[in-house]
Amino acid sequence: MNFLTTSLAIAITLSVARGLCMADDQSATLKDAFKNDFLIGAALNESQFEETDPQAVALIKAQFNTISPENCLKWESVHPNPGQYDFSTADQYVAFGQKNNMFIVGHNLVWHSQTPNWVFQDTNGQAISRDALIARMRDHIFTVVGRYKGKIGGWDVVNEALNEDGTLRTNSPWEKIIGDDYLVKAFQFAHEADPDAQLYYNDYSLENKPKRDGAVALIKKLQAAGIPIYAVGLQGHYKMDWPSTNDVDVTIKAFAALGIKVSITELDIDLLPAATSSQGADISMNARYRAGIDPYTNGLPASVQQALSQRYQDLFKVWVADRQSMERITFWGVTDAQSWLNNWPVSGRTAYPMLFGRDYQAKPALAAVLSTAKNN
Ligand code: GLA
Repeated sequence: MNFLTTSLAIAITLSVARGLCMADDQSATLKDAFKNDFLIGAALNESQFEETDPQAVALIKAQFNTISPENCLKWESVHPNPGQYDFSTADQYVAFGQKNNMFIVGHNLVWHSQTPNWVFQDTNGQAISRDALIARMRDHIFTVVGRYKGKIGGWDVVNEALNEDGTLRTNSPWEKIIGDDYLVKAFQFAHEADPDAQLYYNDYSLENKPKRDGAVALIKKLQAAGIPIYAVGLQGHYKMDWPSTNDVDVTIKAFAALGIKVSITELDIDLLPAATSSQGADISMNARYRAGIDPYTNGLPASVQQALSQRYQDLFKVWVADRQSMERITFWGVTDAQSWLNNWPVSGRTAYPMLFGRDYQAKPALAAVLSTAKNN
């Protein structure tokens, strides 16, 4: 062996040993492993932040330093009827984050889904005017953001405004009634309500070029209007074969070039057979349960478990390499049992998208992820 090959052999041995060492170390946690790189979070449901699921709570406290609300801050939850706000659940979410010194995310203020119809209608069921809808939006944003001022650190101000071709969704009632500037208004109101809160635009499939280009144009427009947008949220509802790690990297760089941060906000990896031809994460999509579409009801074969670990590791390698641009990586849930993918787009399947299993134990994917952390 010459000097070069010897050094190479030593370097490889050291790096494998380091990976194994972190992987074997039961005490290694996500938030510690990536503490110099980005925040690590999970979306929580009620049984978690109300602490009625102690095993999940233990995992959350050990592994994560930021939380997102799965549903409790959506319009239908906090503002179910005209003039009637209900913060009973959201208050507990925020209290849990404060108690555990976590960065608390607000999700979300303006979206076409999980928003009651009354928001867009008068008492006769007719569409209200642009001015009336702007006034309702302002009242909602000021009330919700105002309540948690100084507690919620950042808000998904607008969720999913874009079509797959990068144009604005014209079938969103926000767009239909107010027009293109509903986004500028939403961000302005959020900024006025809490000037210190970070403001985010959040969407899925931005790894696909047409939609990404649309989002880049949208963010430039917001910036030109003087909006202090802090980050873009890539939802990260990924598949085993989509998006490519190259597309993930290109996407991060495209947004970082705008001077904003990038977060992965709803990470999960769907390894079940594709039920539709769409790569998107539109919650209104659904497909029928049929033979062959739910193959792992009795557990995950080792080869598929290994493939999931590899996929997670490949993605985290990109995020670690791009860590200067990355703000946060948040999983959409904690264990496989909690994942929305058990019921979307097909109801009643057995899904395996997370790092922790139904038994609350770490899957091999956790070690694979931890092995990508730099020892810094
Ligand atoms: C979208 C939304 C989330 C959630 C997921 C699916 O990505 O942003 O709030 O509803 O769908 O659970």
